[in-house]
Amino acid sequence: MISGEEPMNQLFGQTPLFLAPMAGFTDCAYREICKDFGCDVTESEMVSAKGFHFGNEKTRELIFISEREKPAVIQLFGHEPEIMAEAAEKIEEDLGGRLLALDINMGCPAPKITGNGDGSMLMKDPRLVETIVRTVRDRVFVPVAVKIRKGICENQDNAAEIAAAAEAGGASWITVHGRTVDQMYSGKADLNCIASVKNRVSVPVVGNGDVTGADSAVRMLRETDCDGLMIGRGALGNPWIFQEIHAAIHGTAYQKPGLEERISIAIRHAERTVAYKGEHGVIELRKHIFYYFKGLPGATEIRRKLQKATTLQELRFFLLDTGNLHEYNM
Ligand SMILES: Cc1cc2nc3c(=O)[nH]c(=O)nc-3n(C[C@H](O)[C@H](O)[C@H](O)COP(=O)(O)O)c2cc1C
Repeated sequence: MISGEEPMNQLFGQTPLFLAPMAGFTDCAYREICKDFGCDVTESEMVSAKGFHFGNEKTRELIFISEREKPAVIQLFGHEPEIMAEAAEKIEEDLGGRLLALDINMGCPAPKITGNGDGSMLMKDPRLVETIVRTVRDRVFVPVAVKIRKGICENQDNAAEIAAAAEAGGASWITVHGRTVDQMYSGKADLNCIASVKNRVSVPVVGNGDVTGADSAVRMLRETDCDGLMIGRGALGNPWIFQEIHAAIHGTAYQKPGLEERISIAIRHAERTVAYKGEHGVIELRKHIFYYFKGLPGATEIRRKLQKATTLQELRFFLLDTGNLHEYNM
């Protein structure tokens, strides 16, 4: 378990790369694959604190962290400090040393989340932000972090104020996605906003939004002075992005994987998913596998074929059937 300043210094000493929490994508199998490629910190998708409160079985499944992945961050969403603290306590009890930290979702713009006052709605209330962080932090040993957005809308960009409230409550680090809630995922992430948070707080700041490779990663670091980077969509079907960015930051060599390696990584990803979720994991895996080929010539045809795979054997057969893929220029 880590707590206190020293482990935070260790974690942030080398510009850590985080895999962004992505509901429906960042399950344990995929997180393991990202770790294989140098991702420093993996995080679960958002988990409902209320779901824990009511003993929801699906919610419990979301907190699974494997031996290979451990330790990892679990992300919680909710808005009632006591319920969140109770969930945090239970998660820590269940996971023990597998839990690296807890992260509180203060950025989700989805109406089914904001409609209950959760996710990005917390950014409307700095005092509640501080209370939630403090209440959770008082009940667990692991560090508590928050993930916020630029603000609610363009003329309500209060990320720095919310970050300061979270810091006052005891947050160990702050991740900032440089888009407003209104923007959802459109437009571009605002790097100035991340820089303004970095200027305001003394805890580490993780920059997030539109990092899709070495150039955007270096730019984010240069323009915001942030302490770590979080990568979401840029890692889909592209888990080696962590290797690519580490190489760019530390000046080491990097070789983009060729087609055969891509296929073998996709197969590894599929095998691990089925190992954790059973054969029915193949259905939800299709969208992931498709990302490994997105943008390549013939991607539509590949997607069509992928939609038909219902078992690991079918999926593996399809992936190994590279005959018509050889012509693709990687
Ligand atoms: C499909 C999808 C699901 C997401 N789920 C979550 C989530 O559960 N918790 C969260 O804090 N952010 C979630 N996000 C936001 C990402 O963590 C990240 O902040 C955002 O995608 C911007 O980073 P990127 O440009 O690197 O993708 C999700 C994003 C996507 C695309």
